[in-house]
Amino acid sequence: MTQPKVRIVEMGPRDGLQNEKQPVPLATKLELIDRLAAAGLREIEATSFVSPKWVPQMADHDALMRALIRRPGVRYPVLTPNLQGFHAAIDAGADHVAVFAAASEAFSRKNINCSISESIERFLPVMAAARERGVAVRGYVSCVVGCPYEGPVAPAQAAEVTQRLIDIGCEEVSLGDTIGVGTPATVQRLLDACASVVPMDKLAGHYHDTYGMAVANVYASYRFGLRCFDASVAGLGGCPYAKGATGNVATEDLVYLLHGLGADTGIDLDRLVDTGAWISAELGRPNSSRAARALLAQRPAVTP
Ligand code: HMG
Ligand code: MG
Repeated sequence: MTQPKVRIVEMGPRDGLQNEKQPVPLATKLELIDRLAAAGLREIEATSFVSPKWVPQMADHDALMRALIRRPGVRYPVLTPNLQGFHAAIDAGADHVAVFAAASEAFSRKNINCSISESIERFLPVMAAARERGVAVRGYVSCVVGCPYEGPVAPAQAAEVTQRLIDIGCEEVSLGDTIGVGTPATVQRLLDACASVVPMDKLAGHYHDTYGMAVANVYASYRFGLRCFDASVAGLGGCPYAKGATGNVATEDLVYLLHGLGADTGIDLDRLVDTGAWISAELGRPNSSRAARALLAQRPAVTP
């Protein structure tokens, strides 16, 4: 029997680091990206071309993209909220970008300072410029299950924004449970709504683990037929505009789950675990991946 292939889009260098208070050295970011690629990740969101006043940690986006050593077969997408960000990203060498909208009006304003409709309007020139250059654009919808300001979000609302992003030309849309409030039941309703308006193979799951539900939500989505998930090594991260939100599902936990289900991710779990342990030590943070902690505990102690 052929193994189902699952794409994993690595969020560590962007979603994972964007909320770190202390500036992370450029060299550390570059090493993280390269270690992830060496572990088999083929799509690594590298940085975001947003305002440094809004997200200071991503202020080195230009230097990072210029210094990045690209491995063949690896995509290094970046976030571009508007045309200014898009041009800066392309000038710095980006060839895959992402636009990001929200399913809730309040989060849209807090995150990108405009309404949902205004954000779609802002994306139109980005889409046109990308099309002209043959650059693929991914879309995100935040707060697909719940919003930190408005509470529960109707699946139909998330599906409507998802469809709008596909209609303007996004190659796929990643469904962001930004504050991790989803459960398999609410995620199932979300996917029912989205898959009724957009083909399944144009959807991805982007589940934050704030309530510890991310692995369960991935499993429910996988059973539903979803085959692309976003994840962050060592579970790094959080959103600056969603107080208390933690990182995405840890990539190590996701890979452990998917390999256990017989899926093919192309990822070397041992090397990934090494990378998660390394970046956690660099940042002085505990490793949030349960699978990584278990696997590290089984390794023989190194005698000095
Ligand atoms: P604004 O203030 O409305 O923008 O911000 P503006 O067009 O009025 O310009 C104001 C100033 O910003 C000007 O500079 C512009 O040059 C500058 P000034 O004249 O004052 O010196 N500016 C920019 N600078 C750099 N790059 C740009 C850019 N655009 C304008 N692209 C803006 C609008 C979108 C820029 C702002 O709100 C912003 O940067 N927001 C950051 C949002 C963000 O990065 N959030 C986190 C990522 S999204 C996320 O984590 C969710 C996700 O993971 C999915 C999920 O979990 O749900 C994707
Ligand atoms: Mg996120």
